[in-house]
Amino acid sequence: MIAMQLYKFSLLISCFLYCFYNSVNAQPARAREDFDRNWTFNLGEVANASAESFNDASWRKLNLPHDWSIELPFDSTSPTGTGGGALRGGLGWYRKTFTLPVTDKGKNIFIDFDGVYCNSEVFINGHSMGVRPSGYISFRYDITPYLKFGNEKNVIAVKVDNSKQPNSRWYSGSGIYRNVWLVKTGTMYIENWGTYISTPSVSATSARVNLTTTLCGTGEYGDVLTTILNAAGKAVAVQTQKNIHIGALQTTLQTFTIQSPVLWSLENPYLYKAVTKVICKGKTTDEYTTTFGIRNFKFDVDKGFFLNGKRVKIVGVCNHHDLGCLGTAINTRALERQLQIMKGMGINGIRTSHNPPASELLDLCDKMGFIVMDEAFDMWKHPKNEFDYSKSFDEWYKKDLTDQILRDRNHPSVCIWSVGNEIPEQWGKENDTAGVAYLREMQRIVRSLDDRPTVTANNEVRSMNRLLQSGVNDLIGYNYHHADWHPDSVEKKWGRKPFIVTESVSALQTRGHYDMPSDSMRIWPQRWDLPVANANPDLTCSAYENCFTPWGSSHMATLQMFLKQESISGMFVWTGFDYIGEPTPYPWPARSSYFGIVDLAGFPKDVYYLYQSLFTTKNMLHLFPHWNWQPGQTIDMWAYYNIADEVELFINGKSQGIKRKTGDDLHVMWRVKYESGRVEAVSRKDGKVIATKLIKTAGAPAKIVLQADRNSIQANGKDLSFVTVKVVDEAGNLVPDAANNIHFTITGAGFIAGVDNGCQTSMEPFKGSERKAFNGLCLAVVQSTGKPGSIKLQAKSAGLAPAAIDITGK
Ligand code: GAL
Repeated sequence: MIAMQLYKFSLLISCFLYCFYNSVNAQPARAREDFDRNWTFNLGEVANASAESFNDASWRKLNLPHDWSIELPFDSTSPTGTGGGALRGGLGWYRKTFTLPVTDKGKNIFIDFDGVYCNSEVFINGHSMGVRPSGYISFRYDITPYLKFGNEKNVIAVKVDNSKQPNSRWYSGSGIYRNVWLVKTGTMYIENWGTYISTPSVSATSARVNLTTTLCGTGEYGDVLTTILNAAGKAVAVQTQKNIHIGALQTTLQTFTIQSPVLWSLENPYLYKAVTKVICKGKTTDEYTTTFGIRNFKFDVDKGFFLNGKRVKIVGVCNHHDLGCLGTAINTRALERQLQIMKGMGINGIRTSHNPPASELLDLCDKMGFIVMDEAFDMWKHPKNEFDYSKSFDEWYKKDLTDQILRDRNHPSVCIWSVGNEIPEQWGKENDTAGVAYLREMQRIVRSLDDRPTVTANNEVRSMNRLLQSGVNDLIGYNYHHADWHPDSVEKKWGRKPFIVTESVSALQTRGHYDMPSDSMRIWPQRWDLPVANANPDLTCSAYENCFTPWGSSHMATLQMFLKQESISGMFVWTGFDYIGEPTPYPWPARSSYFGIVDLAGFPKDVYYLYQSLFTTKNMLHLFPHWNWQPGQTIDMWAYYNIADEVELFINGKSQGIKRKTGDDLHVMWRVKYESGRVEAVSRKDGKVIATKLIKTAGAPAKIVLQADRNSIQANGKDLSFVTVKVVDEAGNLVPDAANNIHFTITGAGFIAGVDNGCQTSMEPFKGSERKAFNGLCLAVVQSTGKPGSIKLQAKSAGLAPAAIDITGK
């Protein structure tokens, strides 16, 4: 009782101090300014472009983030290959001229790059700040010594060299494709990524929160004051440490007890904030906010993954970093939309394959409730492509891995560190210990910074795998090989360690394309190292569950095994979204992947609804394919459903029979004769109809229909509205093979940021104002210009009634 009162009293005093220090400092102690606007850009090498005096007046003016490759035409001769999306890399220069107020004199000023692909070198007023080979790591330079103030101009120049190709197995993008920030602090300040929050004991009644802060300064003495705020912004705990000597990289530990904490979970991803102030001689010289969640998790050998004591199966997807027609240029809304689409089918996990993601993705996963496997590398010392990161590995891997962990370790969503995907060192010779030595060193680095479990994603699951043999990682990770997921088989080879499927499936599908019969399997290519034979001349893959790679499986086969083994903590399906590059099984002109559950434009393929039927509780019924065939043709009609006991199919009112899933079934199917008209599925629970799905034979294309995912967007120059374009017949039915060319015009406070239709072989540019529909659909992405006001998007096509949509930028 007394302890409680004392606790409350100290909280009160500290809150008073917090408010007091807030009021004495009118100016914020730390500024983190968006540094994305008003750059110039030149594609190609230019002599002296790093020099302060260089004249860049003729260069293109643009705002970051920027991916120059996405603006280029598809090119069969591109050295990036179709694996890299047949879009060229190259070398580019960016420059920005800026001034700083005299009041900034005496502050520490840093420039933060969230990611530059790749091999960047940064110059401030002609001085080289350093190089960074990795295209995915975030980095900072202290530019304080080189800056000028008042009317004098500063110039930052950035050289980006993505000319050596091939250097990636997927589309990498090129340029300063993530955000850039200018950070200003006092001279006694908190180091970059300088806080570390852990929650060593968590219960419904109280939680311990440990905060380690790394301070930098000139050796003066100061106070460190941290206030923990709940999601409503109310202070729930405060701590002050007095008179700390602040030298270089000094760490200080503060511990807090939070009474009745609200735990971070997938259903309620509740976030707290720790606001840490450094106060010297009564003045706040820095203020640093760390967002965190209070939760605990564990991986159990027999029972899988537990979050806050509750068993959770991680049903995850792997994604690459491109955002379809926007390329790799980071956009928070585009990422959020991807995650929303994934949530809609019951996905709760994201693997950042195969590299550190943009931190915005982790922020969103924190906020929206996803479990993240944060991955570092696709290769170590042994290359997968001639000019890939393996060339820089020895020199950079320790620094890059360290920086990734430092940057990402406060995110509650991050639960696994993957230090490598399908690392060739798996197959190290008996006397070749280099691979295991790298692994041990990486494990040491991770463990010195954080206690979350590590994994490698292994596609060699036989006992010869050197990395698994070493026993270094905390989790056993398998890519594919679903027949080997039985706990006895895993334990026999690798001992008693928790098991996770780091990658699975690799099925191949084109949205809206169906090869019958649906139960005859197409394994394409026939072997991983052979070109595909006897595949479809139009380079499509069937969207039934009957087309997949030899190393993968249908979604169904993998899911059946996944659902059966309770020891599997989770899996990450390859992939949530189609991505640019790696168009397995096809060569040029295929240029983007077929692996996605959702196509490149963000339109779900049918298998999306299989996941929805299994992993969401919402009553659903999905019937496919469309109903436009040749009279008398034999058609397989499939349905995915949940909740219901049975589904009945009707063609033009005639019953085709009642079907029920039995045993391992994940869908039902009717083999029927096509006759034009209507096909309808009806699902029933306890004899009552709970869902119906009707598809009608569509007539000729007649009209355009536009649907925006959001009719109101922020007028901040970044926000987006994704407008789906449907080609429908006179009666409003989607025309399932419509390929009409749609022309867009836009007026008002928006511009078209990209267009797409999800077709893996389309040679139309992503940046443009027209797009052919593909199997009835295409997409226009509208972006705010930064000014408030109304935006009108109009869509026209020869022979079709046009359409228009209004969006407001607020
Ligand atoms: C995996 C690999 C992925 C992707 C996938 C395609 O083996 O880890 O990056 O290439 O195959 O099926």
